[in-house]
Amino acid sequence: MPDIDSSLPSPCRAEAADLLQLLVAGLDEQALITLNASGLIVSWNRGAELLTGYRDDEIIGRHVSCLYPPRHIADGAPESDLKQARCRGKLCHQSWRICKNGSPVRVSVSLRRLVNARREMLGYGLILRGGVEEESAIPANATPASSTSALVQAISMLQSEVIERRRIEHELLQLQRLLRELAAHQDQIKEDERKRIAREIHDELGQNLLALRLDVSMLVERCGSRHPRLNQKAVAALGQIDAIMSSVRAIINNLRPGVLDFGLQAAIEWQVREFQRRSLVVCDLHVDHTEFELGDHRATALFRILQESLTNINRHSQASRVSIALKRSGNRLSLSIADNGIGIRPGCRRKANSFGLVGITERIHYLNGELTIDSTRGRGTTLRMTIPILPEEN
Ligand SMILES: Nc1ncnc2c1ncn2[C@@H]1O[C@H](COP(=O)(O)OP(=O)(O)OP(=O)(O)O)[C@@H](O)[C@H]1O
Ligand SMILES: [Mg+2]
Repeated sequence: MPDIDSSLPSPCRAEAADLLQLLVAGLDEQALITLNASGLIVSWNRGAELLTGYRDDEIIGRHVSCLYPPRHIADGAPESDLKQARCRGKLCHQSWRICKNGSPVRVSVSLRRLVNARREMLGYGLILRGGVEEESAIPANATPASSTSALVQAISMLQSEVIERRRIEHELLQLQRLLRELAAHQDQIKEDERKRIAREIHDELGQNLLALRLDVSMLVERCGSRHPRLNQKAVAALGQIDAIMSSVRAIINNLRPGVLDFGLQAAIEWQVREFQRRSLVVCDLHVDHTEFELGDHRATALFRILQESLTNINRHSQASRVSIALKRSGNRLSLSIADNGIGIRPGCRRKANSFGLVGITERIHYLNGELTIDSTRGRGTTLRMTIPILPEEN
């Protein structure tokens, strides 16, 4: 509803508001309705009464959803309309509304957010205009079209809608495939880059540190008892070099554990030992040592899945025991990671900004494998995955 010009003197403003109210109330070409911020009907004009059959004393105070067809209510349309108008300022579309006598009426809807000068949300202004030509699907409780031509028209509209939906579905599947490929490609680039950086740190920094260590230890020997103060300094420097070397080793291992070069089984054993040492969670490990050698990228993917699962156990599960098993049966390799913790809380599996489980799912999908995640409140979580062993990996 328009604001009363605040530059008018107050008595004029009051008079203008009264006149405007009279105009709106009596207007019979259009239904002009106001809602409060919760969607309850606050005012109802003559046009609204003519369109729907409700008098103002029958409808004021009720929620605007009472005008929607039951199927739209089940789909959450009233809340969704209010939300869109609240967020975007305005919502215009054509739809159906239900009159007092239960008959549907096609209307053009304009729903606007009403805010005051301080941008505080006061409610909504709703304009409904009847006599609108039907242009989309008929709701379940609408009167069926009486003539054959109307039916034919409706069927052809439905057919084109089905075709359009199939096209969109196909495009979405294509997009999903592309996104998966892109994610896998980026994973691969990341792993290659980690490997390259680890190798460079090892070759450049590692070798130089080693040379420096040799020089300083020679200095320690040479200065010996002849220069005790210098000897003391050199011993301290040697200790620092050793500390730097072990940090460098840890960085290299974090980037890409060298043990991965000895195969997946060795890498899993190393990772589980490390986890047990750092977390104090008891780990049962069963690794099948049957001969197979996964390709580097596939082994790294399974290793990263294990790392993410153990990180999750450490961060979220409060578990005291974890069971990890890597088994081969025929041409399939299965990995299971089970904890005895609190289980995944309902609704927590897919959270905004949480990508660990999504990453695991995507990696397994890309390896052509299968994944199940079983979790019961208070009884822990188990991730089971199987992937095929390729002929060249046998
Ligand atoms: N083993 C587990 N036990 C209990 N809850 C878990 C376990 N693993 C995952 N969760 C729950 O599932 C949620 C999603 O896990 P996910 O690994 O996807 O994300 P995250 O660990 O929160 O973040 P990140 O993206 O850093 O991995 C977690 O926030 C946690 O609530
Ligand atoms: Mg995680």
